[in-house]
Amino acid sequence: MSKNILSKAKNQFIYSLSNKKYLDFIISSGAMIFGHSPVFLVKTLRKQLSHGTNFSSNSYSEEKYKKLLNKTFKNYNNFIFSNSGSEANIRAIRIVRAISNKRKIAIFSGSWHGSIDTTLVEEYNNKKISISSGVIKDNNIIILSPNNFKKSKKKIEKFSNDLAGVFFEPVQGSIPNKKNLDNVKKLILLCEKKNILTCFDEIITGGRVSDLTISNKLKIKPNILVLGKIFGGGFPIGITCVDKYVSKKIDNLKKPIFFGGTFSGNVFTTEAGYLTLNYLLTNKNSLQNHLNKLVNELKKGVNSFLEKNQKNMRLINYESIIRVIFTRKMVFSKKDREIYDRNLINTKKLIFFLKQKNILITKTGGIFLCKSHTLSDIRRLAKALISFAIKHR
Ligand SMILES: Cc1ncc(COP(=O)(O)O)c(C=O)c1O
Repeated sequence: MSKNILSKAKNQFIYSLSNKKYLDFIISSGAMIFGHSPVFLVKTLRKQLSHGTNFSSNSYSEEKYKKLLNKTFKNYNNFIFSNSGSEANIRAIRIVRAISNKRKIAIFSGSWHGSIDTTLVEEYNNKKISISSGVIKDNNIIILSPNNFKKSKKKIEKFSNDLAGVFFEPVQGSIPNKKNLDNVKKLILLCEKKNILTCFDEIITGGRVSDLTISNKLKIKPNILVLGKIFGGGFPIGITCVDKYVSKKIDNLKKPIFFGGTFSGNVFTTEAGYLTLNYLLTNKNSLQNHLNKLVNELKKGVNSFLEKNQKNMRLINYESIIRVIFTRKMVFSKKDREIYDRNLINTKKLIFFLKQKNILITKTGGIFLCKSHTLSDIRRLAKALISFAIKHR
Protein backbone atom coordinates (compact mmCIF):
# COMPACT_ATOMS: atom_id res chain seq x y z
CA MET A 1 0.00 0.00 0.00
CA SER A 2 1.28 3.48 -0.87
CA LYS A 3 2.50 5.46 2.11
CA ASN A 4 0.70 8.45 0.63
CA ILE A 5 -2.69 6.88 1.26
CA LEU A 6 -4.84 9.10 3.49
CA SER A 7 -5.32 7.70 6.96
CA LYS A 8 -6.44 10.29 9.49
CA ALA A 9 -7.81 13.81 9.66
CA LYS A 10 -8.40 16.66 12.06
CA ASN A 11 -10.02 20.03 11.36
CA GLN A 12 -8.91 21.25 7.87
CA PHE A 13 -6.06 18.76 7.55
CA ILE A 14 -5.75 15.16 6.35
CA TYR A 15 -2.65 13.06 7.01
CA SER A 16 -1.21 10.18 4.98
CA LEU A 17 0.13 6.92 6.41
CA SER A 18 3.59 8.46 6.26
CA ASN A 19 2.25 11.51 8.14
CA LYS A 20 2.29 13.87 5.17
CA LYS A 21 -0.05 16.76 6.01
CA TYR A 22 -2.54 17.89 3.37
CA LEU A 23 -4.65 21.05 3.49
CA ASP A 24 -8.10 19.70 2.68
CA PHE A 25 -10.58 21.55 0.47
CA ILE A 26 -12.55 18.37 -0.31
CA ILE A 27 -13.94 18.34 3.21
CA SER A 28 -15.75 15.08 2.47
CA SER A 29 -17.37 16.46 -0.71
CA GLY A 30 -18.60 19.43 1.31
CA ALA A 31 -20.13 17.37 4.12
CA MET A 32 -17.74 18.32 6.96
CA ILE A 33 -18.85 21.91 7.45
CA PHE A 34 -16.95 22.16 10.78
CA GLY A 35 -13.85 20.37 9.49
CA HIS A 36 -12.85 16.82 10.45
CA SER A 37 -13.83 15.43 13.85
CA PRO A 38 -14.97 18.64 15.58
CA VAL A 39 -14.63 18.41 19.38
CA PHE A 40 -18.29 19.02 20.19
CA LEU A 41 -19.38 16.07 18.03
CA VAL A 42 -16.59 13.73 19.10
CA LYS A 43 -17.41 14.21 22.78
CA THR A 44 -21.04 13.12 22.46
CA LEU A 45 -20.45 10.43 19.88
CA ARG A 46 -17.67 8.83 21.89
CA LYS A 47 -20.19 8.24 24.69
CA GLN A 48 -22.77 6.89 22.23
CA LEU A 49 -20.23 4.44 20.78
CA SER A 50 -20.41 2.35 23.93
CA HIS A 51 -24.22 2.55 24.11
CA GLY A 52 -25.12 1.14 20.69
CA THR A 53 -24.93 2.71 17.25
CA ASN A 54 -27.89 1.23 15.40
CA PHE A 55 -31.14 -0.37 16.52
CA SER A 56 -32.99 -0.70 13.16
CA SER A 57 -35.92 0.66 15.10
CA ASN A 58 -37.03 4.11 16.25
CA SER A 59 -34.56 5.67 18.63
CA TYR A 60 -34.50 8.69 20.90
CA SER A 61 -31.88 10.42 18.70
CA GLU A 62 -33.92 9.82 15.56
CA GLU A 63 -37.12 11.20 17.10
CA LYS A 64 -35.27 14.20 18.59
CA TYR A 65 -33.76 14.96 15.19
CA LYS A 66 -37.12 14.64 13.43
CA LYS A 67 -38.63 17.11 15.92
CA LEU A 68 -35.86 19.62 15.28
CA LEU A 69 -36.21 19.19 11.52
CA ASN A 70 -39.95 19.75 11.86
CA LYS A 71 -39.38 22.94 13.86
CA THR A 72 -36.81 24.14 11.30
CA PHE A 73 -38.63 23.24 8.09
CA LYS A 74 -42.21 23.95 9.09
CA ASN A 75 -43.67 23.17 5.71
CA TYR A 76 -42.67 19.51 6.04
CA ASN A 77 -44.05 16.98 8.49
CA ASN A 78 -42.55 13.68 7.39
CA PHE A 79 -38.79 13.13 7.44
CA ILE A 80 -37.64 9.87 5.91
CA PHE A 81 -34.09 8.94 6.82
CA SER A 82 -31.76 6.93 4.59
CA ASN A 83 -28.01 6.44 4.27
CA SER A 84 -27.07 8.69 1.36
CA GLY A 85 -28.30 11.52 -0.78
CA SER A 86 -28.78 9.08 -3.63
CA GLU A 87 -31.10 6.93 -1.54
CA ALA A 88 -33.05 9.99 -0.41
CA ASN A 89 -33.65 10.90 -4.06
CA ILE A 90 -34.66 7.32 -4.90
CA ARG A 91 -37.31 7.61 -2.20
CA ALA A 92 -38.41 11.01 -3.52
CA ILE A 93 -38.81 9.59 -7.03
CA ARG A 94 -40.78 6.65 -5.63
CA ILE A 95 -43.05 9.01 -3.70
CA VAL A 96 -43.95 11.30 -6.62
CA ARG A 97 -44.62 8.31 -8.87
CA ALA A 98 -46.73 6.54 -6.26
CA ILE A 99 -48.98 9.43 -5.41
CA SER A 100 -49.38 10.87 -8.91
CA ASN A 101 -49.68 7.46 -10.54
CA LYS A 102 -47.53 8.84 -13.35
CA ARG A 103 -44.18 7.61 -14.61
CA LYS A 104 -42.17 10.49 -16.00
CA ILE A 105 -39.65 12.49 -14.00
CA ALA A 106 -38.02 15.71 -15.21
CA ILE A 107 -34.49 16.67 -14.23
CA PHE A 108 -32.14 19.39 -15.43
CA SER A 109 -29.10 18.68 -17.57
CA GLY A 110 -25.94 19.05 -15.48
CA SER A 111 -27.70 18.37 -12.18
CA TRP A 112 -26.40 15.67 -9.90
CA HIS A 113 -28.87 13.60 -7.93
CA GLY A 114 -26.44 10.86 -6.94
CA SER A 115 -25.67 7.37 -8.06
CA ILE A 116 -29.12 6.50 -9.40
CA ASP A 117 -29.29 4.82 -12.82
CA THR A 118 -32.37 6.80 -13.83
CA THR A 119 -30.76 10.20 -13.35
CA LEU A 120 -27.28 9.47 -14.75
CA VAL A 121 -28.14 11.31 -17.96
CA GLU A 122 -27.64 14.74 -19.45
CA GLU A 123 -28.36 16.59 -22.64
CA TYR A 124 -25.86 17.52 -25.31
CA ASN A 125 -26.75 18.96 -28.72
CA ASN A 126 -30.41 18.25 -27.93
CA LYS A 127 -29.63 14.56 -27.38
CA LYS A 128 -30.03 12.62 -24.16
CA ILE A 129 -26.77 10.89 -23.25
CA SER A 130 -25.95 8.67 -20.33
CA ILE A 131 -22.98 9.68 -18.18
CA SER A 132 -22.10 6.17 -17.09
CA SER A 133 -21.58 2.77 -18.65
CA GLY A 134 -24.04 0.13 -17.59
CA VAL A 135 -27.04 2.43 -17.55
CA ILE A 136 -30.07 1.41 -19.61
CA LYS A 137 -31.88 4.17 -21.51
CA ASP A 138 -34.91 5.28 -19.53
CA ASN A 139 -37.64 6.89 -21.62
CA ASN A 140 -39.39 8.11 -18.52
CA ILE A 141 -36.72 10.70 -17.83
CA ILE A 142 -37.23 14.14 -19.35
CA ILE A 143 -34.21 16.43 -19.51
CA LEU A 144 -34.76 20.15 -19.00
CA SER A 145 -32.33 22.96 -19.79
CA PRO A 146 -30.99 25.05 -16.96
CA ASN A 147 -30.75 28.73 -17.96
CA ASN A 148 -33.32 28.26 -20.70
CA PHE A 149 -36.72 29.01 -19.24
CA LYS A 150 -38.62 28.88 -22.53
CA LYS A 151 -37.27 25.46 -23.54
CA SER A 152 -37.87 23.98 -20.07
CA LYS A 153 -41.38 25.45 -19.89
CA LYS A 154 -42.24 24.01 -23.28
CA LYS A 155 -41.10 20.53 -22.24
CA ILE A 156 -42.95 20.64 -18.91
CA GLU A 157 -46.12 21.71 -20.73
CA LYS A 158 -45.68 19.04 -23.39
CA PHE A 159 -45.34 16.23 -20.85
CA SER A 160 -47.51 17.68 -18.08
CA ASN A 161 -50.10 14.89 -18.23
CA ASP A 162 -47.45 12.22 -17.65
CA LEU A 163 -45.10 14.07 -15.30
CA ALA A 164 -44.96 12.69 -11.78
CA GLY A 165 -42.51 15.35 -10.64
CA VAL A 166 -39.87 17.90 -11.54
CA PHE A 167 -36.56 17.59 -9.70
CA PHE A 168 -34.48 20.72 -9.24
CA GLU A 169 -30.92 21.09 -8.06
CA PRO A 170 -31.44 24.82 -7.53
CA VAL A 171 -27.72 25.60 -7.50
CA GLN A 172 -25.85 22.99 -9.51
CA GLY A 173 -22.70 21.83 -7.77
CA SER A 174 -21.23 21.20 -11.22
CA ILE A 175 -21.42 24.90 -12.14
CA PRO A 176 -22.22 26.92 -9.02
CA ASN A 177 -23.78 30.32 -9.76
CA LYS A 178 -27.01 32.17 -9.10
CA LYS A 179 -28.04 32.82 -12.66
CA ASN A 180 -30.64 30.05 -12.86
CA LEU A 181 -32.53 30.93 -9.68
CA ASP A 182 -35.08 33.18 -11.40
CA ASN A 183 -35.89 30.36 -13.83
CA VAL A 184 -36.25 27.95 -10.93
CA LYS A 185 -38.78 30.28 -9.28
CA LYS A 186 -40.81 30.65 -12.47
CA LEU A 187 -40.76 26.92 -13.21
CA ILE A 188 -41.93 26.08 -9.69
CA LEU A 189 -44.94 28.35 -10.26
CA LEU A 190 -45.60 26.63 -13.57
CA CYS A 191 -45.51 23.20 -11.89
CA GLU A 192 -47.91 24.39 -9.19
CA LYS A 193 -50.29 25.65 -11.89
CA LYS A 194 -50.10 22.33 -13.72
CA ASN A 195 -50.43 20.26 -10.52
CA ILE A 196 -47.00 18.68 -10.98
CA LEU A 197 -45.14 17.75 -7.82
CA THR A 198 -41.81 19.47 -7.20
CA CYS A 199 -38.67 18.34 -5.45
CA PHE A 200 -35.63 20.40 -4.44
CA ASP A 201 -32.41 18.43 -4.13
CA GLU A 202 -30.50 20.54 -1.59
CA ILE A 203 -27.95 17.89 -0.69
CA ILE A 204 -25.05 20.15 -1.55
CA THR A 205 -26.58 23.50 -0.58
CA GLY A 206 -28.45 22.37 2.57
CA GLY A 207 -26.66 23.69 5.67
CA ARG A 208 -23.88 25.29 3.61
CA VAL A 209 -25.69 28.33 2.28
CA SER A 210 -26.93 31.19 4.44
CA ASP A 211 -30.55 30.72 5.65
CA LEU A 212 -29.79 26.95 5.54
CA THR A 213 -31.35 26.24 2.14
CA ILE A 214 -31.98 27.85 -1.22
CA SER A 215 -35.70 27.14 -0.78
CA ASN A 216 -35.65 29.21 2.43
CA LYS A 217 -33.79 32.01 0.67
CA LEU A 218 -36.20 32.05 -2.28
CA LYS A 219 -39.21 31.47 -0.03
CA ILE A 220 -40.16 28.54 -2.22
CA LYS A 221 -41.98 25.52 -0.87
CA PRO A 222 -41.32 22.48 -3.04
CA ASN A 223 -43.41 19.42 -2.14
CA ILE A 224 -40.27 17.46 -1.31
CA LEU A 225 -36.97 18.76 0.02
CA VAL A 226 -34.02 16.39 -0.09
CA LEU A 227 -31.14 16.87 2.33
CA GLY A 228 -27.92 14.95 2.98
CA LYS A 229 -24.20 15.62 3.52
CA ILE A 230 -23.95 18.29 6.29
CA PHE A 231 -27.21 17.06 7.86
CA GLY A 232 -25.48 13.80 8.84
CA GLY A 233 -22.82 15.55 10.92
CA GLY A 234 -20.06 13.64 9.14
CA PHE A 235 -21.89 10.33 8.79
CA PRO A 236 -23.78 8.91 5.80
CA ILE A 237 -27.30 10.30 5.55
CA GLY A 238 -30.15 11.19 3.26
CA ILE A 239 -33.34 12.91 4.42
CA THR A 240 -36.44 13.03 2.24
CA CYS A 241 -38.61 15.81 3.72
CA VAL A 242 -42.21 15.54 2.63
CA ASP A 243 -44.81 18.33 2.86
CA LYS A 244 -48.22 17.95 4.48
CA TYR A 245 -50.08 17.60 1.19
CA VAL A 246 -47.87 14.75 -0.03
CA SER A 247 -47.72 13.11 3.42
CA LYS A 248 -51.49 12.88 3.50
CA LYS A 249 -51.53 11.33 0.04
CA ILE A 250 -48.90 8.79 1.16
CA ASP A 251 -51.04 7.88 4.18
CA ASN A 252 -54.05 7.31 1.95
CA LEU A 253 -52.32 5.00 -0.53
CA LYS A 254 -53.79 1.50 -0.66
CA LYS A 255 -50.36 -0.04 -1.07
CA PRO A 256 -47.75 1.58 1.21
CA ILE A 257 -44.46 2.93 -0.16
CA PHE A 258 -41.40 1.06 1.02
CA PHE A 259 -38.91 3.31 2.86
CA GLY A 260 -36.93 0.93 5.07
CA GLY A 261 -33.20 0.29 5.38
CA THR A 262 -31.01 -1.48 7.96
CA PHE A 263 -29.04 1.59 9.00
CA SER A 264 -31.61 4.26 8.10
CA GLY A 265 -32.03 6.70 10.98
CA ASN A 266 -29.28 5.04 13.02
CA VAL A 267 -28.47 6.51 16.41
CA PHE A 268 -24.98 7.68 15.53
CA THR A 269 -25.91 9.59 12.38
CA THR A 270 -29.08 11.12 13.74
CA GLU A 271 -27.33 12.25 16.94
CA ALA A 272 -24.54 13.85 14.87
CA GLY A 273 -27.11 15.38 12.50
CA TYR A 274 -29.13 16.74 15.41
CA LEU A 275 -26.08 18.36 17.01
CA THR A 276 -25.02 19.84 13.67
CA LEU A 277 -28.40 21.35 12.88
CA ASN A 278 -28.69 22.62 16.43
CA TYR A 279 -25.33 24.36 16.06
CA LEU A 280 -26.29 25.93 12.73
CA LEU A 281 -29.60 27.20 14.13
CA THR A 282 -28.07 28.55 17.34
CA ASN A 283 -25.32 30.36 15.47
CA LYS A 284 -27.71 31.69 12.79
CA ASN A 285 -25.66 32.62 9.71
CA SER A 286 -22.38 33.30 11.49
CA LEU A 287 -20.63 30.21 10.11
CA GLN A 288 -21.84 30.90 6.57
CA ASN A 289 -20.79 34.55 6.90
CA HIS A 290 -17.31 33.43 7.94
CA LEU A 291 -17.06 31.05 4.96
CA ASN A 292 -18.38 33.66 2.54
CA LYS A 293 -15.76 36.18 3.72
CA LEU A 294 -13.04 33.61 3.00
CA VAL A 295 -14.53 32.91 -0.45
CA ASN A 296 -14.53 36.61 -1.29
CA GLU A 297 -10.91 36.89 -0.25
CA LEU A 298 -10.00 33.87 -2.40
CA LYS A 299 -11.89 35.09 -5.44
CA LYS A 300 -10.64 38.66 -5.16
CA GLY A 301 -7.01 37.54 -5.06
CA VAL A 302 -7.17 34.85 -7.72
CA ASN A 303 -9.63 36.27 -10.24
CA SER A 304 -8.06 39.75 -10.29
CA PHE A 305 -4.69 38.17 -11.13
CA LEU A 306 -6.23 35.94 -13.82
CA GLU A 307 -8.13 38.85 -15.39
CA LYS A 308 -5.15 41.18 -15.36
CA ASN A 309 -2.97 38.53 -16.98
CA GLN A 310 -5.64 37.40 -19.43
CA LYS A 311 -5.52 33.79 -18.27
CA ASN A 312 -8.10 31.24 -19.44
CA MET A 313 -9.07 30.33 -15.93
CA ARG A 314 -11.49 31.71 -13.33
CA LEU A 315 -12.98 30.83 -9.96
CA ILE A 316 -16.77 30.65 -9.86
CA ASN A 317 -18.92 30.03 -6.83
CA TYR A 318 -22.23 30.05 -5.08
CA GLU A 319 -21.29 31.00 -1.50
CA SER A 320 -18.73 28.39 -0.35
CA ILE A 321 -19.38 25.95 -3.22
CA ILE A 322 -16.45 26.82 -5.47
CA ARG A 323 -15.07 25.63 -8.81
CA VAL A 324 -12.26 26.44 -11.19
CA ILE A 325 -13.27 26.89 -14.80
CA PHE A 326 -10.79 26.97 -17.67
CA THR A 327 -12.01 29.89 -19.70
CA ARG A 328 -12.29 33.64 -19.23
CA LYS A 329 -15.81 33.51 -20.72
CA MET A 330 -18.98 33.36 -18.66
CA VAL A 331 -20.04 29.71 -18.51
CA PHE A 332 -23.36 28.59 -17.08
CA SER A 333 -23.66 24.93 -18.06
CA LYS A 334 -21.76 21.85 -16.90
CA LYS A 335 -21.29 20.66 -20.46
CA ASP A 336 -19.75 23.97 -21.60
CA ARG A 337 -17.49 23.95 -18.57
CA GLU A 338 -16.29 20.47 -19.48
CA ILE A 339 -15.68 21.44 -23.11
CA TYR A 340 -13.46 24.39 -22.07
CA ASP A 341 -11.77 22.01 -19.65
CA ARG A 342 -11.08 19.58 -22.53
CA ASN A 343 -13.00 16.84 -20.72
CA LEU A 344 -11.40 17.48 -17.33
CA ILE A 345 -7.80 17.38 -18.64
CA ASN A 346 -7.05 20.79 -17.09
CA THR A 347 -8.83 19.87 -13.87
CA LYS A 348 -6.77 16.69 -13.59
CA LYS A 349 -3.57 18.69 -14.09
CA LEU A 350 -4.69 21.16 -11.44
CA ILE A 351 -5.52 18.41 -8.93
CA PHE A 352 -2.07 16.88 -9.49
CA PHE A 353 -0.33 20.28 -9.22
CA LEU A 354 -2.11 21.14 -5.97
CA LYS A 355 -1.41 17.71 -4.49
CA GLN A 356 2.31 18.30 -5.06
CA LYS A 357 1.82 21.36 -2.86
CA ASN A 358 -0.04 19.23 -0.28
CA ILE A 359 -3.42 20.74 -1.10
CA LEU A 360 -6.48 18.58 -1.87
CA ILE A 361 -9.51 19.49 -3.98
CA THR A 362 -12.27 17.13 -5.19
CA LYS A 363 -11.82 14.69 -8.08
CA THR A 364 -13.95 16.90 -10.32
CA GLY A 365 -12.28 20.16 -9.30
CA GLY A 366 -14.69 21.26 -6.58
CA ILE A 367 -13.44 23.34 -3.65
CA PHE A 368 -15.33 23.44 -0.35
CA LEU A 369 -14.60 25.50 2.73
CA CYS A 370 -15.22 24.60 6.36
CA LYS A 371 -15.23 26.35 9.73
CA SER A 372 -11.61 25.39 10.44
CA HIS A 373 -10.19 27.07 7.33
CA THR A 374 -8.30 30.26 8.08
CA LEU A 375 -7.31 33.29 6.06
CA SER A 376 -3.81 31.89 5.85
CA ASP A 377 -5.16 28.61 4.35
CA ILE A 378 -7.05 30.65 1.78
CA ARG A 379 -3.93 32.66 0.89
CA ARG A 380 -2.00 29.41 0.48
CA LEU A 381 -4.65 28.07 -1.90
CA ALA A 382 -4.78 31.37 -3.80
CA LYS A 383 -0.99 31.37 -4.23
CA ALA A 384 -1.04 27.78 -5.51
CA LEU A 385 -3.86 28.52 -7.99
CA ILE A 386 -1.98 31.53 -9.31
CA SER A 387 1.23 29.47 -9.67
CA PHE A 388 -0.74 26.90 -11.66
CA ALA A 389 -2.15 29.62 -13.92
CA ILE A 390 1.33 31.03 -14.56
CA LYS A 391 2.73 27.61 -15.41
CA HIS A 392 -0.14 26.07 -17.37
CA ARG A 393 -2.58 28.67 -18.65
C1 LIG B 1 -27.13 17.72 -5.26
C2 LIG B 1 -26.72 16.33 -4.89
N1 LIG B 1 -27.64 15.36 -4.92
C3 LIG B 1 -27.34 14.09 -4.59
C4 LIG B 1 -26.07 13.75 -4.20
C5 LIG B 1 -25.76 12.32 -3.84
O1 LIG B 1 -25.49 12.22 -2.49
P1 LIG B 1 -24.63 10.94 -1.96
O2 LIG B 1 -23.28 11.06 -2.56
O3 LIG B 1 -24.68 11.10 -0.46
O4 LIG B 1 -25.36 9.74 -2.42
C6 LIG B 1 -25.08 14.71 -4.14
C7 LIG B 1 -23.70 14.37 -3.77
O5 LIG B 1 -22.74 14.98 -4.12
C8 LIG B 1 -25.41 16.05 -4.49
O6 LIG B 1 -24.50 17.02 -4.47
